[in-house]
Amino acid sequence: MSEVICLINLKGGVGKTVSSINIAYSFAKLGKKVLIIDTDCQGNIAKALGKNYDENPNTIVTLMTEAIEGEVTKQRVRECIYNVGIVGILPSNFLLTGIDYRLMNAFNRECVLKAIVDTVREDYDYIVIDCPPNLGLMVTNALTASNSVLIPVEAHYLSFESLKVMLGTVEMVKKKLNPDLKIAGVFLTMYQQRTKLSQGIEAKLFEIYGAEINVFNDTIPYSIKAAEQPLYGKSLIELAPKHPVSVAYMNIAKELVANGKQ
Ligand SMILES: Nc1ncnc2c1ncn2[C@@H]1O[C@H](COP(=O)(O)OP(=O)(O)OP(=O)(O)O)[C@@H](O)[C@H]1O
Ligand SMILES: [Mg+2]
Repeated sequence: MSEVICLINLKGGVGKTVSSINIAYSFAKLGKKVLIIDTDCQGNIAKALGKNYDENPNTIVTLMTEAIEGEVTKQRVRECIYNVGIVGILPSNFLLTGIDYRLMNAFNRECVLKAIVDTVREDYDYIVIDCPPNLGLMVTNALTASNSVLIPVEAHYLSFESLKVMLGTVEMVKKKLNPDLKIAGVFLTMYQQRTKLSQGIEAKLFEIYGAEINVFNDTIPYSIKAAEQPLYGKSLIELAPKHPVSVAYMNIAKELVANGKQ
C-alpha cells in the first residue's frame, strides 16, 4: 500500500507545485514507484515538466467527472496516467475550473478523489497530490484521500500566518472524514539565509509549532534556478541534483521515507 501525501497551502505561489515535483522525483531517485496527481486547474505539474494536456480527454478532469456521475475502474485511471521519466503523472488542465461547484451536489462529495486514488494505490510506493491554493472541496477531497499532509510555507510573514488556518482545516478533516490523517511536516520555501525575515520566520515556526508538529530542519533556499526549472521541462532533482534546492528536497524526501518506513 502506498503512502499518499498531499501538499497544501491556502496561499498561492508558496512553492506547492515545485515542492510536489521535486519531492516526488526524490522519492523516485530513492528507488520508489511514484505518482503525482495534479488537483489544480492551472495544470502546472505537467507544464513544469514540459508537457501539456489541455486538449487531452484523459486527465483528472475526466476522472472526477466520471467518478461524480458513477464509478471509475483501475483500467480507466491507468488510461489517464502518463510516464514522465521516472514518475507517473495524472495531469490536470483548465477544465477543472469550477470542480468545487460540481462536487457540491455529488454523492459522498468529499470522497470522490479517494475513490480514484484507491484504484491505483497498490501500484505505487508514494502518491503525491499537488493542491490548488484554497481550502475548497477539491482540497478536502485531497485531504480525505491522503495518509499525510505536507505544508510548504514561504518564508514570509503572511504565509506563516495562514498556517493556523490550514492546521485547523486538517484537524477538521481528521475529525469528520479521515481519522488517520497525519501531518508529515512543515518546511520553509524560498528561504533567504542572509535576511532577518527568513531567520525570524524560521525561529517563530520552531517556537510556536516545533513541539506540536514536525518542522523540517531543511529549508528550501530561494534560487532563480528553481524558478527557471519549467524552462527545461525537468525536475531540478534531475537537472541539477547537487544544487542546494535539490539537496534540500532530497533530504526532506529521505526523512519522509525514514519516518514512513515505506
Ligand atoms: N525555491 C525557489 N526559489 C525561487 N523561486 C521559486 C522557488 N520555488 C518556487 N519558485 C517559483 O515561485 C513561483 C511559485 O511556485 P509554485 O508554482 O511551486 O507555487 P504554488 O504554491 O504551487 O503556486 P499556486 O498556488 O499558484 O499553485 C513559481 O514561479 C516558481 O518557479
Ligand atoms: Mg501550484
